Amino acid sequence: SIGGRTEIMKVFITRRIPQEGMKILSQAGVCKVSLWDSDEPVPRAELLKGVEGAHGLLCLLSDKIDTEVLEAAGPNLKVISTLSVGFDHMAMDEIKKRGVRVGYTPDVLTDATAELTVALLLATARRLPEGVVEVKNGGWSTWKPLWLCGYGLSGSTVGVIGLGRIGMAIARRLKPFGVKRLLYSGRTAKSYAAEVEGEYVPLDTLVSESDFVVVSCALTPETQGLCNKDFFSKMKNTAVFINTSRGAVVNQEDLYQALSSGQIACAGLDVTTPEPLPTDHPLLTLKNCVVLPHIGSATYSTRGIMAELSANNLLAGLQGTDMPSELKF
Ligand code: NDP
Ligand code: DGY
Repeated sequence: SIGGRTEIMKVFITRRIPQEGMKILSQAGVCKVSLWDSDEPVPRAELLKGVEGAHGLLCLLSDKIDTEVLEAAGPNLKVISTLSVGFDHMAMDEIKKRGVRVGYTPDVLTDATAELTVALLLATARRLPEGVVEVKNGGWSTWKPLWLCGYGLSGSTVGVIGLGRIGMAIARRLKPFGVKRLLYSGRTAKSYAAEVEGEYVPLDTLVSESDFVVVSCALTPETQGLCNKDFFSKMKNTAVFINTSRGAVVNQEDLYQALSSGQIACAGLDVTTPEPLPTDHPLLTLKNCVVLPHIGSATYSTRGIMAELSANNLLAGLQGTDMPSELKF
């Protein structure tokens, strides 16, 4: 406060966000917002300029928040609020060093993301995109006993890599399809896994025994490239691979080989490296690979709630109060 008056703080927002979030910020009257007013990513130079002297930054998972950005922001910076639960786009060590608080959006997107994962799994295993194309291009000649067959969940073994908030929500949704065994891997066994009769197993066991392998872990140095040649070579030839975590958990060249050689049956990806995946990428030539454009949390209501939460996290960071969802690191 200067001379008894409260200083208006400066905030930079890196993209147009749902109005639910903008409304909270404008009504709070504690900050002056500058916005990269576009649906497309802020160019790096504009990001570096935009954060200059900012007290708060509201960013997206597509913004790389590294030393350069933190330096450009300077010592005013109190809080970074990301419109995501994933935080692999941020240099956490550097942020910690500077005493900057971080807000994120866990829980509120869990249901939407788990639902999309189930949709992607079924679409991939039952070959929905292929079927839709065949109807449109005249490939549907008659009902054929051996045409467009896929794999079902009933009686199957499902393996979830990373039984966290989203992994557990996926498991809860898949169980009623008649899943026989639910395996999971991670750093520690989870007591809450009992609800889905989850069996904590070594990664190798999960990979070799599962009919459906679902990746829902965080991207960390340990999980980067986890799904590689060795991993796919242990999977069943009839197995379905699904990734809704981060693209970099998968070695895409190895996945391409596994899919094109018949080492595994099919794959569904909501996340890739890079994003967007170039339209001439080899994975997009494969019928047994379904790629979605990172839409896990994309329901109107979820995105609105994410915007609200990230605005409230930002305000709490500016005011030095408790955040609704602070990332402890
Ligand atoms: P959580 O932190 O609740 O879960 C992450 C899980 O990852 C934890 O259970 C953790 O297990 C596990 N994990 C960490 N290290 C490893 C490892 N080495 N091997 C196996 N598992 C590991 O996060 P959420 O469930 O809320 O979100 C998970 C991720 O989903 C996010 O980080 C984000 O990247 C992605 N996401 C994608 C979306 C999309 O649109 N496609 C939407 C939302 C999120 P343990 O506790 O044992 O360490
Ligand atoms: C996240 O929140 O990390 C997702 O990838 C997008 O909702």
